[in-house]
Amino acid sequence: MDTLSTLDELRQQLLTQKICPNLAASATQLVMGDGNPDADIVFVGEAPGKAEDEQGLPFVGASGRFLNEMLEAAGLVRRDVYITNIVKYRPPNNRDPTPEEKREFWPYLMRQLEIINPKVVITLGRHSGMCFIPDLHISRDHGHARKVKYREHEFLVIPLYHPAAALYNGGMRQTLIDDFLAAAKLAETT
Ligand code: URA
Repeated sequence: MDTLSTLDELRQQLLTQKICPNLAASATQLVMGDGNPDADIVFVGEAPGKAEDEQGLPFVGASGRFLNEMLEAAGLVRRDVYITNIVKYRPPNNRDPTPEEKREFWPYLMRQLEIINPKVVITLGRHSGMCFIPDLHISRDHGHARKVKYREHEFLVIPLYHPAAALYNGGMRQTLIDDFLAAAKLAETT
């Protein structure tokens, strides 16, 4: 079976196994992911927001526009990478996902990464980064690659700031662009 069909099967499993039924009840739809199922780079955000919930695609709102800008600055094209979130339903009023919600989605995210098998996993924001690297200090560790083991799989994870951080803090913009460039280079040479 090809990668796209295997990912679609995983999507069906998420629906039939009724993951986070409370979130599912308040959300419009499951936001599974977007992009190239055979990508070298997978971006992992936190959870869908309003625009993502409406369109069924990750990072299509304000932070999505900034993510696209960062990708372009790093010489990457959105359709070549894969983008997803830890939690795949929008939490009500964009509240932070709870640890329990993240835990419920975690095995499915891991399966998603196993299927895509990227060279590099880039986490966006502290919350996403801490799921992979529990002792993460984003201001210290951003841009530094770490090997993370999950069962027999090993992922190269690079924690980055969330694009929304740069929306509210102009000084962070260049830091993010620099980190994106370095991460893209690492993916190319790995
Ligand atoms: N922020 C995220 O972390 N994920 C999205 O999909 C959109 C905004």
